[in-house]
Amino acid sequence: MVHQTRMISRSPLLNVMSNTAFKAARGLIRDFGEVEHLQVSRKGPGDFVSIADKKAEEIIYKELKKARPSYGFLMEESGEIGGDGEHTWIVDPLDGTTNFLHAIPHFAISIGLQKGDELIAGVIYDPIKDELFYAEKGGGAFLNERRLRVSARSTLQDSLLATGIPWARHTSAERQTFLKTLDTITPLVSGIRRFGSAALDLAYVAAGRYEGYWESTLFPWDMAAGIVLVREAGGYVCDLQGKETMLEMGSVLATNQALHQPLTELFVSN
Ligand code: IPD
Ligand code: CA
Ligand code: CA
Repeated sequence: MVHQTRMISRSPLLNVMSNTAFKAARGLIRDFGEVEHLQVSRKGPGDFVSIADKKAEEIIYKELKKARPSYGFLMEESGEIGGDGEHTWIVDPLDGTTNFLHAIPHFAISIGLQKGDELIAGVIYDPIKDELFYAEKGGGAFLNERRLRVSARSTLQDSLLATGIPWARHTSAERQTFLKTLDTITPLVSGIRRFGSAALDLAYVAAGRYEGYWESTLFPWDMAAGIVLVREAGGYVCDLQGKETMLEMGSVLATNQALHQPLTELFVSN
């Protein structure tokens, strides 16, 4: 595979995280090929995908545990696994499950690292496009070999935003709030996308592909790695109340520099 032969000098920590993501990705790529076949079968790929998801998480757990035996975990499938009380890996082994389930090639592995209260490193790997997004606090954000910067667009009317649309899991109040927000924002911007992977939505803000992204009712593993990426690419991240309590509140607003203030004001007043 291309990524294994790249000559990039990443920190030992980012190497551990990236190599772990590459290893788990091999299984996901194989399983994605199988899902493409299962699409046409009556039974559908549902159970198969939940097994693929768990297998990826097991690989990630094993690799990270081997590399940093004392660190704890917060993982989507297995929940919390205690460690040294200071370092926690925050892991989503497959972000974009619904896409995966429908054989849509847009999903990622997301691995974040928290030290104390701070998110200090993040890796998001899209195995289909072979795009590795990574960042470590103070060291900048990268996509494969390229340094990332958030977009320079400074007006809402030129902006492309991303979001997540509520579905059956959500309450009626959550759906109404979303529709109200959409009604406020739609006339102000050049477009809104719903691609179906929160981790990649954040990575795309870091890469300057979107000017901003918002979503509520998220989990820490959807956001942890992406938050580090956006910040290290020069962007801003807060929750939908404008505070830095994204993981606790389960909501996120990530923007480039210029749109941080106008978008935050819109959300806080909406
Ligand atoms: C989901 C994706 C999706 C977002 C959902 C998440 P999953 O994660 O990130 O984009 O809208 O809120 O739950 O279930 O695919 O890991
Ligand atoms: Ca997720
Ligand atoms: Ca997931």
